[in-house]
Amino acid sequence: MAAVELTDAGKRYNGRAGVVDALGQVSLSIAEGEFVSLLGSSGCGKSTLLRVAAGLLPLDRGTARVLGRSPDQARQAKQVAFVPQTPALLPWRTVRANARLLTRVNRRGEAARSLPDDEIDALLAEVGLADVADAHPHELSGGMQQRVALVRAFALGAPLVLMDEPFAALDEILRVEMRYLLLRLWEEHRSTVVFVTHSIGEAVALSDRVAVMAARPGRIAGVETITLPRPRTPDDEDTDAFTDHVRRLRHLLANGNANGPSGATSTSTSTSRSAPRRLERYR
Ligand SMILES: Nc1ncnc2c1ncn2[C@@H]1O[C@H](COP(=O)(O)OP(=O)(O)OP(=O)(O)O)[C@@H](O)[C@H]1O
Ligand SMILES: [Mg+2]
Repeated sequence: MAAVELTDAGKRYNGRAGVVDALGQVSLSIAEGEFVSLLGSSGCGKSTLLRVAAGLLPLDRGTARVLGRSPDQARQAKQVAFVPQTPALLPWRTVRANARLLTRVNRRGEAARSLPDDEIDALLAEVGLADVADAHPHELSGGMQQRVALVRAFALGAPLVLMDEPFAALDEILRVEMRYLLLRLWEEHRSTVVFVTHSIGEAVALSDRVAVMAARPGRIAGVETITLPRPRTPDDEDTDAFTDHVRRLRHLLANGNANGPSGATSTSTSTSRSAPRRLERYR
């Protein structure tokens, strides 16, 4: 069973600027336990795809399945955690209370894998937040707040974690640190992660596969399988293999966006872990 399965997914907005095909005809299959990044320029439909998978936005055409159910059913069963671009912590609650919040809500759901309180405290300690567990969000730096949001996402115990540019507001040094913190949490919890980013390096460092999206209509221009071994470390970013992936993705991004609407329906790509589609043409 796939964690996320989109088949000919289409979503059209009728906005002030006219009709926008945010998703043209997108097919994508993400296996359970996989880490997949969505990479693409602004407006190519990354957030739309993520919101569809989160059960927050219905499709106009095609189908979306999350862990064998409709995204809406999966959301109601608390099987999906969503990390927005800004941490969205409750300002009147302490760090510890924020980290536990979703697991409390989660008790009503059927995914009863959420962590007990002492394990959440252990997670907070692991990400270096033990000393500020009783502080309130406004007393924390942006990076600390983002770490609380990460802990919260994994503390929920949801099998599918969706992240929309969670590190976009952080400086480059902190961003790199957060990458490897996220990988550690993912390796421990083995959730499926779908991660939206503008950063090629971030996508390569984190992912099993990177789906490159292009706009008008929103579509998948290609999928790159990242062959770097795991567990990964910052040193991997200095290797030739890393640089090769970055180069191929850069070309794919440029090419996908240059193709324009003509590639609308013919370039949608279907992949799965058992049959990864490796794009070799930029070697
Ligand atoms: N509620 C809406 N009403 C009208 N148009 C919308 C709406 N939401 C998104 N769009 C349009 O759909 C397209 C895809 O938007 P989306 O937010 O999915 O892009 P994105 O890839 O996440 O971009 P970014 O990297 O800037 O976050 C854009 O052209 C956007 O203007
Ligand atoms: Mg977006």
